[in-house]
Amino acid sequence: MSFRYQQLASELQQQIEQGHYVCGERLPGVRELAKVRSLSVSTVVAGYRQLEADGYVQASHRSGYFVKSRFQPPPLSKDLAPKSQLPEQVSGQHMALSLSKAAADSGYTRLGAAVPAARFLPQHALQKAMQQVIKMQPARLMQYEASRGAIELRTEIAKRMALQGAVVSPQDVIITNGCQEALMLSLKALTVPGDIVAIESPAFYGLLQALEAAGLQALTLPTDPQTGVVPEALEQALQRWPVKACVLISNFSNPLGSLMPKINKKRIVAALSAKGIALIEDDTYGDLGFAVPRPASCFALAPQADIFYCGTFSKTISPDLRLGWVIAPKQTAKLEYLKFISNISTAALPQLAVANLLKSGRYERHLRQVRGQYQLALSRISHQIGRLFPAGTRVSQPQGGFVLWVELPPAIDGYLLAQQAMAQHISIAPGAIFSPTAAAGRAEFSHFIRLNCAVEPDARLERALATLAQLCNEQLLKKGLD
Ligand SMILES: Cc1ncc(COP(=O)(O)O)c(C=O)c1O
Repeated sequence: MSFRYQQLASELQQQIEQGHYVCGERLPGVRELAKVRSLSVSTVVAGYRQLEADGYVQASHRSGYFVKSRFQPPPLSKDLAPKSQLPEQVSGQHMALSLSKAAADSGYTRLGAAVPAARFLPQHALQKAMQQVIKMQPARLMQYEASRGAIELRTEIAKRMALQGAVVSPQDVIITNGCQEALMLSLKALTVPGDIVAIESPAFYGLLQALEAAGLQALTLPTDPQTGVVPEALEQALQRWPVKACVLISNFSNPLGSLMPKINKKRIVAALSAKGIALIEDDTYGDLGFAVPRPASCFALAPQADIFYCGTFSKTISPDLRLGWVIAPKQTAKLEYLKFISNISTAALPQLAVANLLKSGRYERHLRQVRGQYQLALSRISHQIGRLFPAGTRVSQPQGGFVLWVELPPAIDGYLLAQQAMAQHISIAPGAIFSPTAAAGRAEFSHFIRLNCAVEPDARLERALATLAQLCNEQLLKKGLD
């Protein structure tokens, strides 16, 4: 004999299997179903939990239960062999520029740049906060803001840092034009042209651009798709090379989505500290994990270490704000000076508006919602890849953020695919641009692509994914590998 909640679960399971509910679709609300079926709310909740445990649905904070993919492609293969044994000069980040252009063009299905569509951003709250600043603090908008940034925002950022266990004085927070500038200023503070910087592999192409702009050499480190840079590999590289700085995305890296376990974070910081090398930690996606609590950064775990912590509101409020920050308490004066000589200061209007959003609690409320939405968006696109793409395609399984790293069959050229897709108004990021050797004609990741999943889940997206799958199949056919 089965309980009522088990009967309900089994009924819904059959409906999902028969396609009455499709991947990503929301099941009826708990109260609604309880009423229609004359069941208690707790019975329906137990039924949904059963389906969740059986892998049919996933819960999204406050939004309900959504059907999960049954076409989950296999995870990425682990290739942890040392990458390039040698530091390389970075060059040729031009393809990244065309992605950035496509990201601003609504004529494209924008799966290329990691830019969330407006539906994932708190548009109305931001508009209201901006209007309030214009009305209440007009004088602040008629002068240069301080080079360190508006004290209101620095204070709110310091409070948020405390939530992940990092004790920070607002005086040590330097506001930047996005995380990209935070990375640039940190590299400037630590290196001179020609120096070696240890990085993840694959690496975020914006970092590669920063390295190219600063004339630095990249030393790529073996990186696990789930747990990030391999600590032993970093330790060995530090024995061999005069590394000046190390840049890592410890929480939900871009493009892999890897999350470094606490123990690895501590080991990596200890290895760097032992050699007197600073860590530049890019925590762009740290607020966008699917599980609570938020993972701590290396910065929070090792308060005494030499860490430049870089953050941004680009993925959580709007990329157009150009609002990020860097914290390195021992280097605040240097960073402030570098910010001043780069571009004097960041505009006050976005800073004051975001300070309001943070103070009012609306930012945190938005995060609670959007995390689930990103998780769903990833699961939907992953499902479509599993359903449509050629056999042998593998996909990352991020626990946060909103990008997927897709490993295509080796015969497929990701760069050619990106060009063919662009001709059909679909932008994707070819794997090669995540490698510093792309321009030298020795690109790694040539059969990989990265997909931005924070896009409208509409028919246009479905068509774009089907087109990408077809282009992949055509490449295979041409090579007689169908
Ligand atoms: C890992 C990572 N760091 C930094 C940035 C740059 O962010 P911002 O727009 O704040 O300059 C991005 C944007 O894609 C990113 O993914």
